[in-house]
Amino acid sequence: MLGKIKALLKEIEEAAPVTLAELEEFRIRYISKKGLISQLFSDFKDMEPGLKKEVGKALNELKSATLDKISRLKESMEETDDRSAGLDLTAPGDSTGLGSRHPLSVVRNKIIDIFGRQGFTVAEGPEIEDDWHVFSALNFPAEHPARDMQDTFFIEKNPDVLLRTHTSSVQIRVMERTQPPIRAIFPGRVFRNEAISARSHCLFHQVEGLYVDENVSFADLKQTLLYFARELFGEEVSIRLRPSYFPFTEPSAEMDVSCSICGGKGCALCKYTGWLEILGCGMVDPNVLEACNIDSRKYTGYAFGMGIERTAMLLYGVRDIRLYFENDVRFLRQFQSAI
Ligand code: PHE
Repeated sequence: MLGKIKALLKEIEEAAPVTLAELEEFRIRYISKKGLISQLFSDFKDMEPGLKKEVGKALNELKSATLDKISRLKESMEETDDRSAGLDLTAPGDSTGLGSRHPLSVVRNKIIDIFGRQGFTVAEGPEIEDDWHVFSALNFPAEHPARDMQDTFFIEKNPDVLLRTHTSSVQIRVMERTQPPIRAIFPGRVFRNEAISARSHCLFHQVEGLYVDENVSFADLKQTLLYFARELFGEEVSIRLRPSYFPFTEPSAEMDVSCSICGGKGCALCKYTGWLEILGCGMVDPNVLEACNIDSRKYTGYAFGMGIERTAMLLYGVRDIRLYFENDVRFLRQFQSAI
């Protein structure tokens, strides 16, 4: 009898019911009226009185150890059961899909990174501007067509509250508050009153660059832009500067890069010229420096400005500017980048 009790105690100690249902099975097996312990008790009744003392003690201990175990397990199961009812805590988690950066952000970040390596810092200015910062300080003549409602969004018909048409306004803001040396780029949104088509939009993004110091020359501008083009489009790219006109630069130029699709042989993207126009640039007009109280006899500078949409179109072969604003995930997902 003592041997049986010992074996049962060991079995009970080792049993490890996990759910409430298993615990109930455990209780029925040992404690219920027909359970194993109850059977031992009925066997006990028929025992010789001399042995009863020792066996009785062992049997009582077995029963109370079993009852203890049941109530302990029940308590802890009810606790965890409330919190995790119906949950499979071993199931793998749901993965949250990471989005990708918008292609315009990717290209803007690349541009900031490339000029950052050449010592350019980043500054920003307001999108709602006045005539001075967008036109007058930039040497636009009074009758310039950009000052017309046809080309510029004016707010509430007030000719002095308008949406900036280019990021050159930030040049003025920076030069007004800083004396040279100035070496910075200005990324931002710009607005033009244009019909929306595959090639143009009324809202787009530009990055402007400005370097003003003593002895800054056109050669410095060309070298900086060559480095930029090679970093963005690859070592093999060539650049070409064509004379152009902007009120705020003299001399002015437009820069082309050799076509990224055909490498200069001629294709539909470059309209069989082998070249793609990418930015406007030039030496800062002395009138602009003077408008910002910078001594134009002591300092010279260069400036350049490019459209981010256009640059991204050339870089990725995107044919329709509207794709950037529709935010169709099937389009956006195609641009994966570390920056
Ligand atoms: N602001 C000009 C534009 O919007 C670009 C430019 C910037 C040209 C700086 C020369 C120098 O087209």
